[in-house]
Amino acid sequence: MIETGGGGGLWLLTGRTSGYALHLTDRAELLHLHWGPRLTLADAEELAAEPQRPPWPFESPLDGREEYVVEGGPRFVRPALSVRTPDVRGTQWRFEGVRVDADADELRLRFTDPVHRLGITLHYRMRDDSDVVERWTTLRHEGAPGDPHVEVLRADAAVWTLPARDGWRLGQLHGRWAAESRLVRSPLTPGDKVLGSRRGHTGHQHLPWVALDAEGAATEESGEVYGCALGWSGSWRIAVQHLPDGGVQIGGGAGYDDSGLLSLAPGESYTSPVFAGLWSAGGFGGASREWHAWQLARVVPDAGRTRPVLFNSWEATGFDIGEPQQRALARRAAALGVELFVVDDGWFGARTHDGAGLGDWTPNPDRFPGGLGPLADEVHALGMEFGIWVEPEMVNPDSALYRAHPEWVQHHPGRARTEFRNQLVLNLARPDVREHLWEQLDGLLSGAPVDYVKWDFNRCFTDAGWPGEAYPARLWTAHVHGLYGLLDRLRAAHPRVAFESCSGGGGRIDLGILSRTDQVWTSDNTDPLDRLAIQHGFSQLHPARVMAAWVTDSPNTQLNGRRSSLRFRFVSAMAGVLGIGGDLTRWSEAELAEARDWVALYKEIREVVQLGAQYRLRAPSGGLSAVQYVRGGESVVLAHLQAQHHGERPPPVRLRGLDPAAAYRCEETGAVHGGAVLLHRGLETGLRGDLDAAVFRFRRV
Ligand code: DGJ
Repeated sequence: MIETGGGGGLWLLTGRTSGYALHLTDRAELLHLHWGPRLTLADAEELAAEPQRPPWPFESPLDGREEYVVEGGPRFVRPALSVRTPDVRGTQWRFEGVRVDADADELRLRFTDPVHRLGITLHYRMRDDSDVVERWTTLRHEGAPGDPHVEVLRADAAVWTLPARDGWRLGQLHGRWAAESRLVRSPLTPGDKVLGSRRGHTGHQHLPWVALDAEGAATEESGEVYGCALGWSGSWRIAVQHLPDGGVQIGGGAGYDDSGLLSLAPGESYTSPVFAGLWSAGGFGGASREWHAWQLARVVPDAGRTRPVLFNSWEATGFDIGEPQQRALARRAAALGVELFVVDDGWFGARTHDGAGLGDWTPNPDRFPGGLGPLADEVHALGMEFGIWVEPEMVNPDSALYRAHPEWVQHHPGRARTEFRNQLVLNLARPDVREHLWEQLDGLLSGAPVDYVKWDFNRCFTDAGWPGEAYPARLWTAHVHGLYGLLDRLRAAHPRVAFESCSGGGGRIDLGILSRTDQVWTSDNTDPLDRLAIQHGFSQLHPARVMAAWVTDSPNTQLNGRRSSLRFRFVSAMAGVLGIGGDLTRWSEAELAEARDWVALYKEIREVVQLGAQYRLRAPSGGLSAVQYVRGGESVVLAHLQAQHHGERPPPVRLRGLDPAAAYRCEETGAVHGGAVLLHRGLETGLRGDLDAAVFRFRRV
């Protein structure tokens, strides 16, 4: 709901439990008023009427108070908007008008800079059933043909302002390849804390998300938490500024540097990604559940449907693949109850190793003499869906595509082309490249009965040049828009096909890609113990419904050689969208039989896991950890014990989200427990030794 007050210059957005207010002063300054629990319009007007404290000498009266910070004038904080025309840099804007679109729950505030002839619109959206505020910014060159272009050096999506408190703690998700989404919380000190990626993709190093709690007072289930998350799959930046007077502002948008996003010609416009914000009084867990609910309702396509159990060939066969071997794996997978069989890298072109074939998206005739059709048919006959791996944005120099079009890759004329994993990046900003990829992928999906596409991206941008283009910097944003456009077009043309976002594991996980894909590959690290920490971090923002997790071989082949039981591996991977990635041809009959039971159990609990409310009962930190899911009268607990010490029994795990007055039957033990007992005394897991794990199902009786 959006209300207008203050004589027309104050707006109050109200969501499920929270509110957000801003106002336009008589001097046409757009100031932040409130972000937190629900307020009445009268409360917001009271805030607007409060006299402002005079600024300290040398400080600006605007800094820390504005809804969106343009460059220039009395401002010393990081600008959200930095633009220039040949003679003038920065912005002096004037308010043009407001539009409240009640149907879309959207508030639009329009400004203009008459010197640059630039229209600037700030967008806000808050739905009645959510506490997420979506914010984004659009720019439009409103000049006439012949007017100079407006060079956009930086255009953040939004600036978030936190209330004055004694201090703040910052939570972030950091990592690298095979070690993504690791949660760290630390006190916020004065200055700027900058997270981001200058790599062309979201990156393994940081998820575009921050969470702040005042005075470090929030716990998993109590206290105020502010979160901000960006929906952009290219280079990005979130800057958390702890200002001299103790205020905190958080700016975020596309691009890492302030050195140039794009150049707008008269009539052209730019829409920033969405930078979403959330206030929750429910601690870190409450904030996560709110983010999850919003993504399932508003972001992830078709999120009401659960995802199938998949098999992926990568860890089993690497590049060394062929049709008979894939058929053998498919038969074993089907016997386990797998529902989707995915052939990973190596099915196309001359791709027998990572040095050749990327770009040539036709089946390798030696490996698949009849194309992919016969294998797909067998997979379908076995009752499974059929999926393939692609990496469309890349090319190996050793490929027919590169030999035909060396000019299609990002490069600077006369400079070496840096290779990572023997590959170069195609310039998706070019319409001819996009059209070629569309034809290839559309042909692939039309030519064989493919139900699922794993879309990978295995290197960062390095030589992001675009010879002949007047403003090559726009390549960075245009690449992402090109990717989004391709995915949108493919989804529209092949609505039955599901897509997985992968980037060497979790290098491209953000709200932007999640609005176009059905799930993401969380990490190339499939060690079930490391995964607990990765999944704990991932769940801070994203729901289990999109988090792919595979059971692979023991000892772990990818990373560390750790041995773990099938039980531990399954219970770890069952916390998300279960997959199997081991070499099933080497699994014993006993292992296959056990795996069949685990898959059957997962199918029973997956609706609760994938679509339920998630409670992180105990974080993985060396001992006992547990995560719980609640949906209606059903609940599932996944418990993991890393190591038992001194023979001590792990403590009971206190459950959440149950009705204390109700009784719950535990399917595993047959015992009936009072909800109040499970909530207060807790659940005895009985786990012991090293790397033990268990699943507990509860049903309200
Ligand atoms: C990186 C992915 O994360 C892996 O799962 C696999 O698909 C390889 N690429 C294939 O090259």
